[in-house]
Amino acid sequence: MTTASVVFDPFSAEFFEDPYEMYRQLRDEAPVYYSDRYDFYALSRHSDVAAAFKDFETYSSARGVTLEEIQGGEVQHGQSIIWMDPPDHRRMRSLVNKVFTPRAITAQEPVVRERIAYHLSRVDPSGFDVVSDFAALFPVEVITSMLGVPEQHRQQLRLWLDEFLQRAPGQIDSGGSDAMMKSAAFYYDLVQQRRAELRDDMISGLIAAEVEREDGSRTSLSDEEIVGFCILLGGAGAETVTKLMGSAVVAFSRHRDQWEQLRADRSKIPAAVEELLRFDGPVQYDCRYTMRDVALHNTVIPAGSAVMLLGASANRDERAFTDADTFNINRNRAEAQNLGFGYGIHSCLGAALARMESAITLDHLLDFMPEFTVDYDGLKRVSMTSVSGYSNVPVRVQS
Ligand code: HEM
Repeated sequence: MTTASVVFDPFSAEFFEDPYEMYRQLRDEAPVYYSDRYDFYALSRHSDVAAAFKDFETYSSARGVTLEEIQGGEVQHGQSIIWMDPPDHRRMRSLVNKVFTPRAITAQEPVVRERIAYHLSRVDPSGFDVVSDFAALFPVEVITSMLGVPEQHRQQLRLWLDEFLQRAPGQIDSGGSDAMMKSAAFYYDLVQQRRAELRDDMISGLIAAEVEREDGSRTSLSDEEIVGFCILLGGAGAETVTKLMGSAVVAFSRHRDQWEQLRADRSKIPAAVEELLRFDGPVQYDCRYTMRDVALHNTVIPAGSAVMLLGASANRDERAFTDADTFNINRNRAEAQNLGFGYGIHSCLGAALARMESAITLDHLLDFMPEFTVDYDGLKRVSMTSVSGYSNVPVRVQS
């Protein structure tokens, strides 16, 4: 076991504020870290995290992908794609790929543009909050409109999710399970409505689709499976892009030269999105459960352990990326795999949608606030499980 001086607490105020120095210490001093306090292992180097993401036979998702899921034993097998191992995962992923198609995503582009323009038109350029007045509002509308949620309920789903993910420092479990029950009840009702009358939305697509089961038979998805998928998509699709865009404005405020480069050449926007995902991506880690003993860096992680795969640390690993702590939209992206969307079989299903939303947002912000100042004293970070970023980024557009 590595006995290092570094103390890594993913539920501490220090972590929520800035995890990157902690990550560096982990990579250098304790590449296989064990937390006594919460009873989990953490991998932080790029090569170890990437290998673990790929090795689904050793690192199982079936007990959950957050510490509280794995340790609380609350995951119901088969409820959600993110909690499945092959072969279930393969069958479910090929089903949802049929509903979540590149065409369905491309078709969202006008919606994304319209929503972004609408929310920007409502902010006061002389002082507004990029996150709470803007970036928090549109991603949830995009994904829930794809699912088929009527407009008047979309923001409520976001507020329930915020409540569910919220953690006080030191708190591992959610105090917001009531909020999750409300979301589940809401989606359950909606599924019943669509079963009565199908429409042109993703819930209807999921109702109509069939999945191959373990015994080779083909059946439709149950209410529980569809509700689980809606909750996952509603969550994954809402929080992450919001966080990425908040961090983007802070990163570009601190690296003005690169904002200027984007202003001069919008074709750099996709590369900027990839760099933002690497440099300060919203998903810090995904957890797994070991199915066998793993020997790594002179340590044995016993079978049956919770292991945190610190993708955000791996993305700053100087063993993989040159000047890993430097924000550089022009960096050579072929150098190493960016783990911002995960890697391997569970890699982000919504990556294309997230990339499109992020690119369109940057494009609009470049027009809306070519010159801007961030009120650094007003920056506030979220304290949530798995995701990180800002809840508040106050800015002023300069005329
Ligand atoms: C910047 C935005 C986003 C980031 C950084 C992100 C990141 C991730 C990561 C790291 C995983 C891997 C989880 C694991 O290995 O356990 C993942 C999976 C997933 N993401 Fe995203 N995500 C983003 C946006 C979205 C959006 C917009 C959607 C949907 C609308 C989405 C839907 C999903 C789903 C369904 C999975 C599970 C896939 C599976 O288990 O096969 N994500 N995402």
